[in-house]
Amino acid sequence: MSTGDRKPFVGGNWKMNTDSEGARALIGGVGGIGGGDAEVVVYPPFPYLREVAADISSQGSRVVLGAQDFRHEPNGAMTGCVSIDMLKDCSVSSVLTGHSERRHVIGETDSLINAKTKAALDAGMQVVLCIGELLEQREAGQTDAVNERQLRAGLEGVDEGSLDRVVIAYEPVWAIGTGKTATSADAQDAHAKIRSVLASMYSKEAAGKMRILYGGSVKPGNAEELFSMPDIDGGLIGGASLNAEDFGAIVSATRASIKRG
Ligand code: 13P
Repeated sequence: MSTGDRKPFVGGNWKMNTDSEGARALIGGVGGIGGGDAEVVVYPPFPYLREVAADISSQGSRVVLGAQDFRHEPNGAMTGCVSIDMLKDCSVSSVLTGHSERRHVIGETDSLINAKTKAALDAGMQVVLCIGELLEQREAGQTDAVNERQLRAGLEGVDEGSLDRVVIAYEPVWAIGTGKTATSADAQDAHAKIRSVLASMYSKEAAGKMRILYGGSVKPGNAEELFSMPDIDGGLIGGASLNAEDFGAIVSATRASIKRG
């Protein structure tokens, strides 16, 4: 499949890490990255969004600001939640939905993930919809079935016209934060199947334009091999995104995915 028109994407999901000083140091270190051949988005915790936004702007950086979570309803009586309008007010233009920690630790359902995905798209945001199987599901040979179910449920009611703002992140749960990575061949196989499900939901042309990221223990040492696979268009990075040098090296590794175009 021709991949020439899929711009590589690297997301840095900082998860529930760092503090004000650390967030500023990190964005200081990664601020010069991005805006070239790869789209680079960082997802800091809520309390640091504004200061990271201010630093991105004062550095003239082309790194994009994202948020890890939000409530899909309009502003109102919803104690402890953060709305999409609030995120927009903090210069956020990309959000994550369906992350495994929210599915399996917080207990978010497919229908909530779908509601969030649609609300964010309706508000003009970019959405990175995360999918992926648990270890027991992989061992039971259910990887592709789980991915297909999460994909169909997450994108239910999303029309083809919005797909240019949808990115899929395949993150096998057993590979997240464990140091275990899917082999590049296994990851490629899962990505190719994800793309064929997208083709059957929409069209081959639309599926061919969508970015599908790999996530789960991506490091500078394995990024290039993963990104050189034909259906892997970048990565969603957890631990290694907390180190500016490592994150920069991973972004540079997306060159491997451009060359094939
Ligand atoms: P790690 O890179 O720490 O495995 O995390 C991956 C992830 O969950 C990114 O969203």
